[in-house]
Amino acid sequence: MRSSVALALMSLCAFALAACGESQEDMEARRAQARADSVNMAEGLYDTAVFDTLTWESEQARLERGAVVYRSSCQKCHGANGGGNGEMAMQFELEVPSFQAPGWEYAGDVPALRHRVFVGHEGAMPNWGLYIKYRDVDAVAAHIAETMTPAETSEATG
Ligand code: HEC
Repeated sequence: MRSSVALALMSLCAFALAACGESQEDMEARRAQARADSVNMAEGLYDTAVFDTLTWESEQARLERGAVVYRSSCQKCHGANGGGNGEMAMQFELEVPSFQAPGWEYAGDVPALRHRVFVGHEGAMPNWGLYIKYRDVDAVAAHIAETMTPAETSEATG
């Protein structure tokens, strides 16, 4: 009796392992496809004209909102100061670029930041346009541009 239970368990395990091994590739392909679809969906929704309709009480209000969005949605991967060392980045060993790298391509470029944040990436970066409002995309882009990106002279001064 005991041995037949053991045998049944063993064959169940073997079956589960085989099934896992088989579906692993399929699963990764499905995930890659889903990620690419999400980027395409966000790209299809992206409309720069919407940003022109936004109004802020003050630049200060915009930056304050951006700091809130950053803390709630970005910090866990990008780190408190945009260094790319958030706890989730560490835990999952994600390669998160530093916003403070000298000559960072998005430095101070709010329109480019809005687009990059909205559309996301096939990698680990979420497609924020599918989840948060244009207003919050704008605010967080301004917050990063204003408070985290390197000064224009940092390249020259090293
Ligand atoms: C789950 C982790 C994660 C979260 C949360 C996250 N990001 Fe990212 N982000 C990444 C990774 C990883 C990359 C680089 C590779 C990629 O694009 O997948 C990236 C790339 C970026 C880039 C482009 C950097 C470059 O040099 O190419 C910007 C800008 C950015 N993220 C902004 C944000 C903002 C703003 C938020 C919050 C609204 C956010 N990210 C939330 C993981 C994350």
